[in-house]
Amino acid sequence: MRLSVIGTGYLGTVHSACMAEIGHDVLGVDTDADKIAALAEGEAPFYEPGLPDLLVSAVRSGRLRFSTSLAEAAQFADAHFICVGTPQLADSLKADLSHIESVIDELAANVTGDCLVVGKSTVPVGTAARLATRLASRTPEGITASLAWNPEFLREGFAVQDTLRPDRLVAGVTSDKADAILRALYAPILETGTPYITTDLATAELAKVSANAFLATKISFINAVADVCEASGADVMTLSDILGHDVRIGRRFLSPGLGFGGGCPPKDIRAFTARATELGVGDSFQFLEQVDEINRSRRRRAVELGRELVGGSFVNQRVAVLGAAFKPGTDDVRDSPALGVAASIRSEGATVRVHDPRAIENARQVVPEIDYTDEAEKACEGADVVLHLTEWAEYRDLDPVKLLSVVRAPRLLDGRNVLPLGRWRAAGWTVRSMGLRT
Ligand code: UDX
Repeated sequence: MRLSVIGTGYLGTVHSACMAEIGHDVLGVDTDADKIAALAEGEAPFYEPGLPDLLVSAVRSGRLRFSTSLAEAAQFADAHFICVGTPQLADSLKADLSHIESVIDELAANVTGDCLVVGKSTVPVGTAARLATRLASRTPEGITASLAWNPEFLREGFAVQDTLRPDRLVAGVTSDKADAILRALYAPILETGTPYITTDLATAELAKVSANAFLATKISFINAVADVCEASGADVMTLSDILGHDVRIGRRFLSPGLGFGGGCPPKDIRAFTARATELGVGDSFQFLEQVDEINRSRRRRAVELGRELVGGSFVNQRVAVLGAAFKPGTDDVRDSPALGVAASIRSEGATVRVHDPRAIENARQVVPEIDYTDEAEKACEGADVVLHLTEWAEYRDLDPVKLLSVVRAPRLLDGRNVLPLGRWRAAGWTVRSMGLRT
């Protein structure tokens, strides 16, 4: 089938490469000409395991092309996936829908035959129905352009795997024909037994934000419990394992520490709360504001613990920060807890040097006033405290004995509760963590 994928952010780039991989002819579209030129050479615009190979082979096979022209896409494809961003508005908690609306308008103005427009972006519930009317009213006489909603649940770092072997596919549709087209589009994935759920537009829209809100709640829950553990002397990591063995709860997304960040969960829970309030059910959603607040308080707590470790003030202190990405496996620093903490500490008068295996270039653009290095040991040189804030696997292999001669004072905060703290302590380090009384 001939498809267009509009938007070459995380979602759009991965989706276009994966759709080509399962045999479709795909045209990827973006207004950013530099990005399109790089993608046409098979160059991924961000770090994502497995994506470069997929892109190169899709481009070489001729099944994946790129263009800056939405009009070309409108004429080329029978189905159009909208993958543009819906960031938080600068002056409110709501999502900015302007990009998605202009894509709908431009597609409508340029389609030359019947087509299906499939929204994948995360939007407030009710948006799809409104966009469907807008699309139909702006499409030329005699042409039917219908709208479906097909939310995406991919995780950064596992994006290819999550797209080609998803836990489920969700199709929000208003006709059997749209449902049949989506089933045909995803046939190679469905053949492997992937659950496929057909539903209405509103339920499909809610699937994505509800999933992210639930996961965020799980993380903030365990982080609130971590505070109780710290105050009472209990061990939150053991507690997480105990809870996780209960199949009704599950261990995943129950790791306490510095909390969640990234381009999706924080803005999604805010937009969800804003939409619930608009719908008159905001009272039931006050807990999500607290989920957000608990999460933000983790960053303040990490700064506080670091300050305590250096004796009460960061002025003239050298601070090593391990990690800048919002989680391991990505170079994404959007709303990164690690980078947020590093920037706060810098503003309190410390000299901060940050290491990250992948995200330094992106971090430097967001927080240029910090020092960056591409070696973890170099970040620790002369440090009065080492803060472990993004749990890249390589940090677990750091040798605390060797680092003794590198730092000025052997003090460590494990903001992710994954380092072998016994070894660090045995080597003579003063250690703090988030959720364990140490
Ligand atoms: C998320 C959703 O998981 C995905 O389904 C959706 O499509 C996009 O948003 P992603 O942004 O890649 O994916 O991040 P995710 O893996 O969910 O992690 C989010 C944050 O939570 C990270 O900052 C991570 O460090 C943190 N986290 C995760 C915890 O603090 N504790 C945990 O136990 C798990």
